[in-house]
Amino acid sequence: MTTVAVASAKGSPGATIAALALATQWPRPVALADVDPAGGDVVWRVRGLDGGPLDLDRGMLSLGAGLRRGVSETTLAEHLQDTAFGFPVLTGVPTPEQLAGIGGAWTHLGEVFNRHEADVIVDCGRISLSSPSLPVLHKADVVLLVVRPDLEGTAHLRHLLRALQGTLRLGQAGAPQVCVVAVTSYRDTRVTDDLQRLLDHEGLAARVAGVVAHDEKGARMLSSTLAGNLARSLLVRSARDLAKHLTDLSRHQTGRS
Ligand SMILES: Nc1ncnc2c1ncn2[C@@H]1O[C@H](COP(=O)(O)OP(=O)(O)OP(=O)(O)O)[C@@H](O)[C@H]1O
Ligand SMILES: [Mg+2]
Repeated sequence: MTTVAVASAKGSPGATIAALALATQWPRPVALADVDPAGGDVVWRVRGLDGGPLDLDRGMLSLGAGLRRGVSETTLAEHLQDTAFGFPVLTGVPTPEQLAGIGGAWTHLGEVFNRHEADVIVDCGRISLSSPSLPVLHKADVVLLVVRPDLEGTAHLRHLLRALQGTLRLGQAGAPQVCVVAVTSYRDTRVTDDLQRLLDHEGLAARVAGVVAHDEKGARMLSSTLAGNLARSLLVRSARDLAKHLTDLSRHQTGRS
């Protein structure tokens, strides 16, 4: 099964919204896991099947406790909660202070996700070489970096890609495929080509996979703060294209580290 690790370089470009939008449009069964070490956001944006809030104790905290007993003692499925969106969710660490409760589990998360019976989209939050969630990127099939394609957004992206290049052994067999997605206007047709040219010019082994539409109404609908026809939002339409692109890509992926 495929694991897609969604992450950002700096700022809040919309990684969580992109992960949520992708999960709603994923063409195969999928779970959404929130492992953002800065504190999970998904739990606040997604409701349970009964319309009520999700249980914060069932998710990363319970999975971390399970993993302390042994990697083969627990599965992702045991810690997922069904949601009104139709896909199950692993809730994140409620606050960064509770990170200590996860302890050594970080290094085993990728393995647990890869063993899951369905695809997993993982919100890894902001990434640097010292991020606790970095091991999840190592084990992922696809790493999806979410970026605002402005001057500072692309500068931070280039910096992060240069840092990840050696750690993730980018471009080598078994390494994750690194993709970039730009949060911009749905009609911005130039941005993907411009961004790809820039990455190629700098010798950075990453493919620009498309755009996530900048769509405030769509983002609010995905955050459950606005009712509306989600399927018709530009955000969700762009996520549908992206989900298809990523699932096609993972079909051609050969092995993982
Ligand atoms: N595609 C989008 N179109 C319009 N607004 C968006 C989009 N994506 C995110 N936003 C808005 O930007 C803000 C940050 O979004 P989000 O929480 O997804 O960012 P993030 O990258 O996950 O940030 P953090 O690293 O802090 O977790 C939210 O207010 C959200 O509604
Ligand atoms: Mg986030």
